[in-house]
Amino acid sequence: MSLLTDELLPPADIPEFSSYMRSHIRGAELHLYNESAELRKCSPEQMLYHNYIQAGSPHGPALYAVKGEHWNGICPAFLDFINNFKLKREYMGYAECGYGIQRHRSFLRHLIINEHQLQQQNTTHRLDIDVGCLAMTTRMAMYDLAKVAYKYSREHFPNHTPVAVVPTPAWDYRGIFKELGYKIVYLPIRPENSWQPNIVEWSAIINEIKQDPQQHIALAVSNPQHNPTGMQWPIEVTEYLLELCASEKSYLLIDDAYYNVHDPRIPITNTLKAILNLFNKNNGINHLTQSGMFNRWVATRPFGKQFSCNTMGVAAITTSPILLRQLARESWINRYHCNTHNAEIMCSWLAQPESADWTVETGLMYTRQKERVKEKLVNQMGWPKTSVCIGPSTSYMLFEVPQIYQNTTSGIDKFRDDLFYATGTMICASLFNQAAPAPFVRLHLGSHPDIIDEILRRWQMAGLNYHQPSQFSSDELLYSPLPKQTFRETICPDPTY
Ligand SMILES: Cc1ncc(COP(=O)(O)O)c(C=O)c1O
Repeated sequence: MSLLTDELLPPADIPEFSSYMRSHIRGAELHLYNESAELRKCSPEQMLYHNYIQAGSPHGPALYAVKGEHWNGICPAFLDFINNFKLKREYMGYAECGYGIQRHRSFLRHLIINEHQLQQQNTTHRLDIDVGCLAMTTRMAMYDLAKVAYKYSREHFPNHTPVAVVPTPAWDYRGIFKELGYKIVYLPIRPENSWQPNIVEWSAIINEIKQDPQQHIALAVSNPQHNPTGMQWPIEVTEYLLELCASEKSYLLIDDAYYNVHDPRIPITNTLKAILNLFNKNNGINHLTQSGMFNRWVATRPFGKQFSCNTMGVAAITTSPILLRQLARESWINRYHCNTHNAEIMCSWLAQPESADWTVETGLMYTRQKERVKEKLVNQMGWPKTSVCIGPSTSYMLFEVPQIYQNTTSGIDKFRDDLFYATGTMICASLFNQAAPAPFVRLHLGSHPDIIDEILRRWQMAGLNYHQPSQFSSDELLYSPLPKQTFRETICPDPTY
């Protein structure tokens, strides 16, 4: 029988479910349930979920904190805005330009200039930026860039293997570049260096590639508000990568996905501005521009993270007019251009003052949630302070897997699976961590505090501890339910209250 009927929602009289929890439960059902055994194999999360509901959801509804999705965190004012928005006929139909209609590109250009404080940029015409409005996942813009860079590398270095240098841990850049034929070389970010890139270590890795006559660094990635550590990278890191790309004739991706997903009390690193300042040095006559680098960088800014609506898929793509044209050409080869109506909604929303209010509120909310989880892990579940990583940016935090999982083959994934079967809570394992320099898992904090608290409660009930003496025994735990949450039933004993 399908789970997709409303009868399968928990009955309305169960007090422990807030409306946010209900949205989360329903969202998890809608997104994780899959009747096709074959399709499920594409998603470890759907496989886990299937086993869990087959066992009767022993610990309560499955709770999800894996990717930046949580099905209850969309900015409420934005949801109201969408529900009241009236679309017009003229936004329906393919877009002729894959990087947005002029109206949306002009709007996003203003927004990027304002939010990155580029008003004073003394740009010569030659160094003017263009801003595309991509109405789909930015992963597609990264594909377009990867193809442009790949062709360039093959043309200029025909006997070399194109290499993409990407940070690790990081978002899954590898998945894009590897498919296209790049060799991936990882630049590690380590806890010992406070989770910041170590340029000395990176240079040693990069020098090895440079000395190999069969390899060409075709593309490098910077992610200045870094997923998953939440740390901000100093400008010098992106400058280092920019200089590298200029000298090696490579392309630079500046993934600014979390630029405005940030603790508003901590100054934000404005990488785009810093990079443009470098291009503009000496009135635009400098080694960077002379190397042709101005036509080999892109900064991507999807808005799904800022308003917790990844499903909308609208992003600003800032680059030179020439590279934007090249990306648009690749885009035509891959797809027809839909979703202009989503771009219209997003641009209209970004023009509302409420969108700025939310950006501040959500940054504070993530900060509070990170501190709360860290406090619980450290004070009540045995984690050393240094084994929990929270930074001022993004909606993510990292923590080390319990010691008992650290020396097991595939221990990170095993911990994710065991924890899910033991508690019904799903976190992110090796997806972002393929070449992990350290055994950490990632937790997404976008959900309402109610959901985060229930996740923490179940962890404690199941005996999760950094020093736990044995691994969770998944089979057993799947069939021994944890006690249910009761605080909403007991907090207010006076029935007249
Ligand atoms: C660092 C980073 N870059 C890019 C993306 C992709 O964003 P989009 O949804 O626009 O593809 C994500 C999504 O989580 C991300 O974390």
